[in-house]
Amino acid sequence: MEIVVLRLGHRLSRDKRVSTHVALVARAFGAKEIIFANIYEKEIEERVKRVCEIFGGKFQVNSTEKPRELVLEWRKKGGVVVHLTMYGVPLLEKVNELREEKKIMVVVGAEKVPGWVYEVSDYNISVTNQPHSEIAALAVFLDRLFDGREIYFKYPNAKVKILPSEKGKKVIAI
Ligand SMILES: C[S@@+](CC[C@H](N)C(=O)[O-])C[C@H]1O[C@@H](n2cnc3c(N)ncnc32)[C@H](O)[C@@H]1O
Repeated sequence: MEIVVLRLGHRLSRDKRVSTHVALVARAFGAKEIIFANIYEKEIEERVKRVCEIFGGKFQVNSTEKPRELVLEWRKKGGVVVHLTMYGVPLLEKVNELREEKKIMVVVGAEKVPGWVYEVSDYNISVTNQPHSEIAALAVFLDRLFDGREIYFKYPNAKVKILPSEKGKKVIAI
């Protein structure tokens, strides 16, 4: 399954850490790409790329100035769009249906998400109907989608490997 995350509404500087974490969660939980809408902060891209160099994989970081067109194009090519929002339908009611899809674009916001996102999305999905965080919503969504299998995903061309251990840190260079 191909997953792309679209991050809307980053507030410059203020959201740098949150957006970086959205990207790192997207990568670690099995997405192949993150696209930032209307922003480009080099530091975010550099941080995520550094993680990829060390921990492997082919995760991509991109940006767009035309998120609406991007979403419509994705749908035209047969992908589905899932917008994560506290106002949506509970995740557990749709997750089985979503597991059948081949290409999913997951949209997460920062502040208020523009109305068109609710309209053009195939699914508006909630991870609880309480307000919380795009990082948490994305993590829970991907974890449920992959049914926990992302815990064991391997990333090719890593420079290090972590040996899971009960105590301390065991890291080997590859
Ligand atoms: C800080 S919240 C913004 C909440 C804002 N009041 C709104 O209109 O959606 C930032 C993003 O986190 C995600 N999010 C927050 N709570 C969520 C929930 N309960 N379920 C799904 N996504 C959520 C959404 O993608 C939202 O755009």
